[in-house]
Amino acid sequence: MTNWDVEKIRRDFPVLSQTVNGKPLVYLDNSASSQVPQSVIDRTSKYLREEHSNVHRGVHYLSQHATTAYEAAREKIKRFINAKEAKECIFVRGTTEGLNLVAYSFSKKFINEGDEMLVSQMEHHSNIIPWQIAAEEHGAMVRVIPMNDRGELVIEEYDKLLNERTKIVAVAHVSNSLGTINPIKEMIATAHKFGVPVCVDAAQSVPHFPVDVQDLDCDFFVFSGHTMFGPTGSGILYGKKEWLGKMPPYQTGGGMIRTVSFEGTTFAGLPDKFEAGTPAIAAGIGLGAAVDYINSIDFEAAAAYEHELLEYATQRLSDIPGVKIIGTATNKASVLSFTIDDIHPHDIGTILDQEGIAVRAGHHCAQPVMEFFDVPATARASFAFYNTCKEVDKLADAVQKVIEVFA
Ligand SMILES: Cc1ncc(COP(=O)(O)O)c(C=O)c1O
Repeated sequence: MTNWDVEKIRRDFPVLSQTVNGKPLVYLDNSASSQVPQSVIDRTSKYLREEHSNVHRGVHYLSQHATTAYEAAREKIKRFINAKEAKECIFVRGTTEGLNLVAYSFSKKFINEGDEMLVSQMEHHSNIIPWQIAAEEHGAMVRVIPMNDRGELVIEEYDKLLNERTKIVAVAHVSNSLGTINPIKEMIATAHKFGVPVCVDAAQSVPHFPVDVQDLDCDFFVFSGHTMFGPTGSGILYGKKEWLGKMPPYQTGGGMIRTVSFEGTTFAGLPDKFEAGTPAIAAGIGLGAAVDYINSIDFEAAAAYEHELLEYATQRLSDIPGVKIIGTATNKASVLSFTIDDIHPHDIGTILDQEGIAVRAGHHCAQPVMEFFDVPATARASFAFYNTCKEVDKLADAVQKVIEVFA
């Protein structure tokens, strides 16, 4: 295994040291929400204890202090994803809000009757429904990039789908239900040949390996704080200023205007135009602290370790008769979805819980993926750099136990 001091890392995450149902917690539900290190908890509570005040509006000490901390978090995020400018990083509540924002505002300005938008077959519902609604609203059509039996996008089909009617591509960087890492850099380059912008759902990539939005050359890039060791209620929509600048606001109200009168309103510039109302200040500052945490570890080594852990887990579960892995792409991150014969995944999840093991059972907000693999649901173990081989062994033992219970 990669040289990675997992026991040291685990001590940063207080939640991991508890017992559940009398057993040490084995937390394998990181794709739904990752755990939060002490440094993020401390930074968020320091804000609430000592610095809380509304941002951007006050001349008094606390308000200025809160504004400085909040904007410092934006700067950290800008550097973390290598955006050109901090104002291209819009604070949102999470990936869902970011994707809804892009779908609504982009389509209002740029989508007309007969236009096409491409999404992939493996998208999370939050990267399908907003585009369906936008398509309905503007008389456009959502077309689907198909995948193969391993859960990989069929790139030749993608290339064929792109045409002069295509106005945007919206695709996951990493699939939350299958773990597939999509070749988005190449997909973006192809879309750009047609002048088509690409919106990347990065909810499951940012927590698992370093990203660089300028290198990818993506037009929009959206992620949540709670899947990257930060607080819920935080997230980022990165957008190239050339696009964001032309798009109308998504929500309106305080903080996003230049002037308001009953004759009409003019809007503020970026990022304020897209940040109406009082933001989730504590969550935003906490997200900045999550970035600090990731920067404080060797993230490349973490990614390599996590990859080895996934390979080990894949091998252990594949060796158990009756277990079927759903999603066997060559290039994967973090996620191991599986079924066991005809045992319902909820039963798997419940028995694993009795062993202190947290996995997710369900459709993972990706019903088209379930339909494709002809399963109602899967059990999903998803890993972070604080998980261990010993935990994988416990998972494999517990899966064996599930099979014995239902034998
Ligand atoms: C790939 C993907 N997209 C979108 C979302 C929605 O994120 P959120 O619920 O944080 O808004 C998730 C949630 O985990 C996800 O995994």
